[in-house]
Amino acid sequence: MKTLLLASALFAGLFGSLAAVPVPEPTPATPAPTPDPYHAFCETMWLFGDPCTEIQTMLLTQIQAMTEYTLVLAVPLFVKANHSYPEIPDGETIILNLSPTILPGGCRVNALSTSVRFTHLLDDGQNYCNLYNLLSASGLNSEPGFMEITNEWACLGYKLAPCGSA
Ligand SMILES: *[C@@H]1O[C@H](CO)[C@@H](O)[C@H](O)[C@H]1NC(C)=O
Repeated sequence: MKTLLLASALFAGLFGSLAAVPVPEPTPATPAPTPDPYHAFCETMWLFGDPCTEIQTMLLTQIQAMTEYTLVLAVPLFVKANHSYPEIPDGETIILNLSPTILPGGCRVNALSTSVRFTHLLDDGQNYCNLYNLLSASGLNSEPGFMEITNEWACLGYKLAPCGSA
């Protein structure tokens, strides 16, 4: 009887210690690349009922027409530009990724503006306005089928931006 108790005590002890063996932590998934959170940014999506070649041409024309914008790179379906002004000479970086929509003849633009400097996250709508001003100056926001999709997570402060349609 004593032997049996001892055996069960050992057994319990064995399982007890097994249970204490740390379970390896699942390796965390690699996070998707996002803009550095310490630089203000605005990400927005535009939908157009016109082909991307036409949309890209209009955006490029507008970038080159406005003195605060400098074209850095333009290849099919991709545009990179700088926005700067006397108060903040290094300004913001603008990236436009265009992709044809599944429905033929349409274009989706993923637009991102990021402050180059370390900034306060609330940028008074500067990054939103950098993108919005391109749209409004070129008249693209009154093209048939135009739609903008963004929110406060992707574009902090866009509802307060002084330039906006919101
Ligand atoms: C664009 O801005 C970046 C960051 O400030 C700078 O390094 C680069 O030289 C600028 N490019 C042009 C073409 O102005």
